[in-house]
Amino acid sequence: MTGLGSRGSHWVDQLLKRDDVEIVAYVEPAAQIAEQAIEQFNLDRSGVFDSLDDAVSSVSADFVCDVTPPGVHHVIAQKAFDNGLHLLQEKPLSNDFSVAQQTVAAGRAAGMRHMITQNYRFHPCPRTTRRVLDEGLIGQVGQVDLRWYMNWADIPGSFYVTAPYMLINDMMVHHFDMMRYVLNADPVTVHAITWNHPWSWLKGDSAHVIVFEYPDGMRATHVSLGAAVGKRTTYWGDWSINGSRGSITWELDRMWHSHLHRTDEPVNREILPDDVPDQSVAIVDEFFCAIDENRDPECCAADNLKSLTMVFGAIKSTVEERRVSLDEHINL
Ligand SMILES: NC(=O)c1ccc[n+]([C@@H]2O[C@H](COP(=O)([O-])OP(=O)(O)OC[C@H]3O[C@@H](n4cnc5c(N)ncnc54)[C@H](O)[C@@H]3O)[C@@H](O)[C@H]2O)c1
Repeated sequence: MTGLGSRGSHWVDQLLKRDDVEIVAYVEPAAQIAEQAIEQFNLDRSGVFDSLDDAVSSVSADFVCDVTPPGVHHVIAQKAFDNGLHLLQEKPLSNDFSVAQQTVAAGRAAGMRHMITQNYRFHPCPRTTRRVLDEGLIGQVGQVDLRWYMNWADIPGSFYVTAPYMLINDMMVHHFDMMRYVLNADPVTVHAITWNHPWSWLKGDSAHVIVFEYPDGMRATHVSLGAAVGKRTTYWGDWSINGSRGSITWELDRMWHSHLHRTDEPVNREILPDDVPDQSVAIVDEFFCAIDENRDPECCAADNLKSLTMVFGAIKSTVEERRVSLDEHINL
């Protein structure tokens, strides 16, 4: 386990609950955070290390679960791959697109499985919506509108509030990855306008309007306010997916199917969520199956580059104040 901060605690808790995982080493350079974890999880001090180098020279392992900040991910990844370890790594893969590409290539070259924990797509709303869209419930989808209002990362001094464009890089990578999963499609262009508010605690821009265009003419809009002090959506956002035969909407994580055109019997009903496993359980199960079956997992790092293409394309678009084609070389 690398990184025992706030999200690291979640993963320690999750992995300790499993009977197919033994955590053989914990890596945390910040002494106070290491102490907190030792106390919280009653850890044996001999298994807690300052660096991954020290850990791998002391214990033998199968994989690394990396929950360090995004700017450190490539360092942990390279050390894991150099030591023949598979890697389960928190999003975002990196806060630099070319570093993300190099990290994916390093994992491929080493023959290691590398999965990014895009947990949002494992929630019942995206899982259920993808299934009913595949079944053709609303016909051909033409327009998708997402709205998200949240008091995001109100943590003074953290990397979330100090680094630029963190709302898009760190948070919206979840939404863009969910859009790819739910719609089973990748956009070809992006046009983003981002800005900040005087009351925002984020140093980078806290708000945006983004339009994605798809090869078949579908368009998706994404509107966010990460410094919302008023009414909130959920972290998954409110969605409206419109097709030739009606709409699917998410409102506070409840789903609705509506078809209200005069030519048909009106439909306006709640869609009950499919019974899906807990997101963190599903992610680790998928990672282990992929290792056992010698295949790429869902959310493998190579696939995740497509979600990051949406992220860095949006950032490039707002920086350069123009619509960006997503097959352009993204180099900020
Ligand atoms: N999937 C989700 O829903 C979700 C939620 C929250 C955070 N995250 C992600 O988890 C990651 C960590 O976020 P966080 O909020 O826990 O941050 P954090 O700052 O609370 O914790 C990160 C920890 O990593 C440690 N660290 C730094 N360099 C290290 C190194 N070289 N080796 C080992 N440990 C090192 C830091 O000392 C810190 O304790 C980020 O990538 C973040 O985006 C994901």
